[in-house]
Amino acid sequence: MLDTLATISAEPDQLTRLYLTPEHKRAADLVAEWMRRAGMSVRMDAVAGIHGVLSNGANSPRRLIVGSHIDTVIDAGRYDGALGIVAAILAVEEIRARAITLPFTLEVVAFGDEEGIRFPKTLIGSSTVAGATDESVLDLTDAAGETVRNALLRFGCDPAAVASEAYRRDDVVGYLEVHIEQGPLLESLDEPLGAVTAIAAQSRHRVRITGEAGHAGTVPMALRHDALAGAAEFIAMTEELAYKGERDQLVITTGEVSVKPGAVNVIPGEARLSLDVRAASDAARATAVETIRRRSRQIGSRRGLVIGIETVHEKPVAVCAPKLRAAISNAVGGLTGRKPPELMSGAGHDGLAMAHLTDIGMIFVRCRAGISHNPLEHVTKGDLGCSVEALVREIVEVAKQERT
Ligand code: GLV
Ligand code: MN
Ligand code: MN
Repeated sequence: MLDTLATISAEPDQLTRLYLTPEHKRAADLVAEWMRRAGMSVRMDAVAGIHGVLSNGANSPRRLIVGSHIDTVIDAGRYDGALGIVAAILAVEEIRARAITLPFTLEVVAFGDEEGIRFPKTLIGSSTVAGATDESVLDLTDAAGETVRNALLRFGCDPAAVASEAYRRDDVVGYLEVHIEQGPLLESLDEPLGAVTAIAAQSRHRVRITGEAGHAGTVPMALRHDALAGAAEFIAMTEELAYKGERDQLVITTGEVSVKPGAVNVIPGEARLSLDVRAASDAARATAVETIRRRSRQIGSRRGLVIGIETVHEKPVAVCAPKLRAAISNAVGGLTGRKPPELMSGAGHDGLAMAHLTDIGMIFVRCRAGISHNPLEHVTKGDLGCSVEALVREIVEVAKQERT
């Protein structure tokens, strides 16, 4: 299933599947078909999330949600997101095959936008289910100028129904997700699975540096307002700051740069950068952003540049619920004979948004050399099997908790 999903891409020789694209549609249709075959009834929500519902025969309004995301980064690996969806569908198959009865409805969700690559927003699917989507999101545009609203309409969704997708807190038992670790810890501990303690605080920003375009041959160095040279200093400043914040697990990344007018013999007049800031605590992240703003004003005034920093996404640390961590510990412990290691997630996940609605719990799966957001991402077949079995057992543990 993972290999098949990996073929559904915008490019023939790499995996790139962005939100609300034709390849997203093909992947969503396939996932919906797998859900139906596993005995679930399926619907698509207002923001292209695919929901597969396994009734417990009692039409319980209370539901346990298990899911992950269907979108990928550019030139992605095949496990990030897809593993959580496939594991959830296989867990449903197992639960039916073993005739396990649950005291709640089980709902598998394939969220549409977790990576936040196409639009300047992320977690649109899970935020909508959690009732945390501001409708202004619909007016955001991609690089080609298409709005989220228009892209949703073309996908077959009803953007006017976003607010009505919010789930009621009392109806939700919790949110579980299986995900590759995307880091090296489990491999170094020789453990296939781990329990996540919390997902790091994160924010994303758009930085616009405005200088003055000019002739590369005639404007003396001292009279230039070179936006790209300012951007280089800005990036180096954020990197130095992150090194100093290692204790707070502060990490800062600029992954996108564009320059105008972008010609060999023209001094850059404008640079646009992305900025991604994460830390183990909200305070450490907020202080870092404040420092970046202050230092960028200094860079701007020294170089005669205007540096604007707009925040487009901000989520505090999402702590995994102790009772779901206990359920994971029992589930994995029963499988491996050992208590699973507990680890923090530096990567963002749909749980960041689902934590607004309900308790969250995450199982991490060992990956090769900690490599992710890269086509070399790899998980062994044995570990994939372990992750499905652990998820089945975790659902059974949560059912025991729900009954008591
Ligand atoms: C998603 O993978 C993120 O952490 O940005
Ligand atoms: Mn992911
Ligand atoms: Mn990812």
